[in-house]
Amino acid sequence: MITKAVLPVAGLGTRFLPITKSVPKEMLPVVDKPGLEYIVAEAVEAGLTELIFVTGAGKGAIEDYFHRDYFLESQLEASGKADYLKEVQRVGKLAKVISVRQQERLGLGHAVYQAAGIVSPNEDFAVLLGDDIIDAKTPAIGQLMAVQAERGGCCVALMDVPRDQTDRYGICDGQMVSPGLMHVSGMIEKPDPAEAPSTYSIVGRYVLPGEILQILETTPRGRGGEIQLTDALAVLAGRGQAWGLEFEGARFDTGNTLGLMRASIHFALKRPELAEGMRGILAEFS
Ligand code: G1P
Repeated sequence: MITKAVLPVAGLGTRFLPITKSVPKEMLPVVDKPGLEYIVAEAVEAGLTELIFVTGAGKGAIEDYFHRDYFLESQLEASGKADYLKEVQRVGKLAKVISVRQQERLGLGHAVYQAAGIVSPNEDFAVLLGDDIIDAKTPAIGQLMAVQAERGGCCVALMDVPRDQTDRYGICDGQMVSPGLMHVSGMIEKPDPAEAPSTYSIVGRYVLPGEILQILETTPRGRGGEIQLTDALAVLAGRGQAWGLEFEGARFDTGNTLGLMRASIHFALKRPELAEGMRGILAEFS
């Protein structure tokens, strides 16, 4: 059974400068919670109990948020603010959180490799990227875990994108073996549209065998001079050990301003106490 999830959160958040000078991009709010909380909740709902944050400089706010704050709790308790106390305790107890620091920013593959001392060489684990929030009945990572449990190897989340966007994603080549399930034979990181073998792109969810950490150890720098997770996964794909699942759910790319706002609107409309007010606001601008 898979219990560990790696969440790379070391990225600089350049697209959100200047706010990311002092606020990690993962802490930017979607409605009134950090975007990362939705991803942590997805992992927890899928049964993942140990979350490994791969952090970098200036990311302390993430650790503070997901750990308990006994001083704040005792203050809230003493002043009888029971509702706030409950909320503060809830986020502090969502999961067991471990942080490792990525000392150099050498790419996503390098970030995932930082989990090597914590994930055993033969232990399967999950990876969830902070820019992709997925709202689904069954947590997207859980959907991938079910495929990987049955088929072994690795399983990545797939989304069919317009051809002119292939250079933003890892792209998979392969055969659809059943509706939505691809047996992946090759993967390439951010190919030009003319060279992309398909339009099936990887979005930020992966279930990986521990062996990937060994593969990453010797994965050379690839696209953009970075150690790419996609390149390491291509080794498994070459052996017939990679699967891609067109998951069920709505995906929000919170790595850009409009995507972040779109996610806020979606989740506000799902909150009974906010939905009507939000509809009113949208009507004002339509
Ligand atoms: C990373 C991966 C890419 C994947 C994408 C999903 O790219 O390298 O293969 O398709 O995440 O969001 P990034 O968005 O970090 O540039």
